[in-house]
Amino acid sequence: MACSIFTTFLLLSVFLSACTCNATKVYHDGRAITIDGQRRLLISGSIHYPRSTLEMWPDLIKKAKDGGVDAIETYVFWNAHEPFRRHYDFSGNLDLISFIKTIQDHGMYAVLRIGPYVCAEWNYGGFPLWLHNMRGIDILRTTNTVYMNEMQNFTALIVDMMKQENLFASQGGPIILAQVENEYGNVMTSYGDAAKAYVDWCAKMADSLHIGVPWIMCQQENAPQPMINTCNGWYCDQFTPNNPNTPKLWTENWTGWFKKWGGSDPYRTTEDLAYATARFFQVGGTFNNYYMYHGGTNFGRSAGGPYIITSYDYDAPLDEYGNFNQPKYGHLKELHAVLHSMEKLLTHGNVSNIDMGNSVLVTIYKTTNASGCFLSNANTTSDANVRFEGALYHVPAWSVSILPDCKNEAYNTAKVNTETWVKENKAENEAVALKWVWRPENIDDIVVKGKGDKTVCKLIDQKVANDVSDYLWYMTSVNINENDPIWSHDMRLRVNCTGQVLHAFVNGDYLGKQYATEYGTFHYVYERKVKFKPGFNQITLLSVTVGFQNYGPKFDATTNGVSGPVEIIGKKGNERVIKDLSLQKWSYKAGLNSIDRYNKLLNVNSSEWRSDTLPTQQKFTWYKTTFKAPLGRDPVSLDLEGLGKGHAWVNGKSIGRYWPSNIAHDSNCTVKPCDYRGKYDNTKCVRNCGIPTQKWYHVPRSFLVDGENELILFEEFGGNPSLVNFQTIKVGSACGNAYENRTMEISCIPGRNISAIRFASYGDVQGTCRSFQKGTCHEKNDALGIIKKNCIGKEKCAVLADEALFGSVNCQGLKKRLVAEAVC
Ligand code: GAL
Repeated sequence: MACSIFTTFLLLSVFLSACTCNATKVYHDGRAITIDGQRRLLISGSIHYPRSTLEMWPDLIKKAKDGGVDAIETYVFWNAHEPFRRHYDFSGNLDLISFIKTIQDHGMYAVLRIGPYVCAEWNYGGFPLWLHNMRGIDILRTTNTVYMNEMQNFTALIVDMMKQENLFASQGGPIILAQVENEYGNVMTSYGDAAKAYVDWCAKMADSLHIGVPWIMCQQENAPQPMINTCNGWYCDQFTPNNPNTPKLWTENWTGWFKKWGGSDPYRTTEDLAYATARFFQVGGTFNNYYMYHGGTNFGRSAGGPYIITSYDYDAPLDEYGNFNQPKYGHLKELHAVLHSMEKLLTHGNVSNIDMGNSVLVTIYKTTNASGCFLSNANTTSDANVRFEGALYHVPAWSVSILPDCKNEAYNTAKVNTETWVKENKAENEAVALKWVWRPENIDDIVVKGKGDKTVCKLIDQKVANDVSDYLWYMTSVNINENDPIWSHDMRLRVNCTGQVLHAFVNGDYLGKQYATEYGTFHYVYERKVKFKPGFNQITLLSVTVGFQNYGPKFDATTNGVSGPVEIIGKKGNERVIKDLSLQKWSYKAGLNSIDRYNKLLNVNSSEWRSDTLPTQQKFTWYKTTFKAPLGRDPVSLDLEGLGKGHAWVNGKSIGRYWPSNIAHDSNCTVKPCDYRGKYDNTKCVRNCGIPTQKWYHVPRSFLVDGENELILFEEFGGNPSLVNFQTIKVGSACGNAYENRTMEISCIPGRNISAIRFASYGDVQGTCRSFQKGTCHEKNDALGIIKKNCIGKEKCAVLADEALFGSVNCQGLKKRLVAEAVC
């Protein structure tokens, strides 16, 4: 059967490759990607289709296009598409073809990173767990024929699907680039001699699929021709491709970072992101992809890890809900417009550089009839006054000024003229308390009787259970008598774990749970005092995964679950006596009674739901309620504060794992204002320590119906659902900001008007949105009155930061700006 599907695809692809209707020729030279012979300067943005919904795609893609983005990049998620071997799923938000066609409908290009290993903070890096469990596979991503056959099969399947729909540019479609593997170069030394052969094979295999557009291999210094090696990172200005005929491409320009349970919120400043991007184009880059442009949500069990949270907001230009993350979105949009206006110059111009000393560099691009300049200041503390061709330019520290005509500064990365949005969660006025019913997950057969589905005489890795659930029960029975050497009044159960959470029971009694508190360390030892009874004792361990590891050398082989040993520790006098249970007969059962292997709910309407007193702080409990969707079209968020850890479904659709009781313990949060100057990494500028890692969960509007909706929670740790409520996300304040002679714009989201102005000033304004203060020099005229008159009652307004309007101000060389805070 599988074979015949494959043959059909092959025949189709042969037929289709003959059809070159509207074909676009994508190639490259040492300078740029060329499309129909023209060198292009391309801005791309990552949007992963399964991290939003079909209904959200057009809006996200349109916003990207409006933001000056030319191409949308996505990975292809193998384990989502082939959850069981040769059983494919391309439905709903896995409809890759529709996603690419939506990109095409918007007149944009697509970059398809097939991988099929993707990393991406996605469960197991996108590898299906059945692949790991196939006979003949020891390690993935190396020259193992079983693995290579599967990888080729999936890659070819995706390529053929695209060809069938004419989606490659060579067929008139939007896909201009494709990727095989992902950052293998970062880890390849650990695969020994086989690594080089594997890279060569990947390249050959990809090339043999004849897609008619170039293939890329990111972070792969030794990428064999014709693969293009590309750069990923916070900064890629120093990157040089391994071949003079390949252009300088940046496939992952990290706009922020991901978050783990127990971690704080990563935040990358707009100024630094713009600086990194502008630097890249200054020094010859011609293709830049933002990773992520929209991060989105890890629905279901798709979050990788371990410990990647459900939100994949990423501090990207479009936030998790699809709203503008301002000023990041707007400041980059301005940058894109300036760069696009210089496309010809940057892709054809002769380049010369003038080193002005103290990390200041002037770069001039010149063609016969035009020239464009970059003035960069890589100094982390001192601003520079650059004298260039008779004029003086103020270039703040760690910034790049762009002069499209080498005369007038059109853009500076550190001078943000875009408004800042502060979003608020709003409950509806008439919000009613939710009424709950509940039922326990019936675990008696497991924790009292130890009834499993499979029995073996060893501890197994949780991956063996093919990832059909987060939960794997390990059960054994142990006969202990009073004359046993370990028998004492001080007996303990000790379990070595590499899973993320462990619960233990002895004879049906709960002993407690434990999880690795330092995120990033996977191994921990669980030890509890136990009262055994003489005779047979039932020991049940529940190992819980919170996303399988997705990155690192040979990450796929990392053990998960109860790795062992499992021991009973007794005492004879002062001597410890240990009984190792690891090689006993262990029974196994994967999952919970009410969730199937696709993470779909069963027994939703069972008669077991109870409406008597709602238990709280009770582990392994189901809660169900109904609710009305919040009015309007604003994105909806579910507040789960009060709950412990578990999983949530709205109208049967999973909105992901929740764990609001996990508090961000990270001590990195800075108290002083975050300084954009100097090299960024994900430990800099973090926020929100000491509060739940994630208490808000995105409920896409398309999951909701008019009338009654149903919310079901599986509470694993024990919690209290009485505070759970639905809210909408709105722009609360919009803060406009514009430097002298630029226009300050303020806008609320479409359909909402500015209702008040809280602050306005022109001068060296201090503070940030919501905490602005007048500076040492400020306007003469009534700034508040002027802004009120221009803005109140309007959806958007624009006011020039003009001395004539606000009264002349002498700020003695300090940067003057017009700033206002509006209420939406
Ligand atoms: C890269 C990887 C991406 C993503 C990113 C961090 O190394 O290629 O898939 O994991 O790191 O968000």
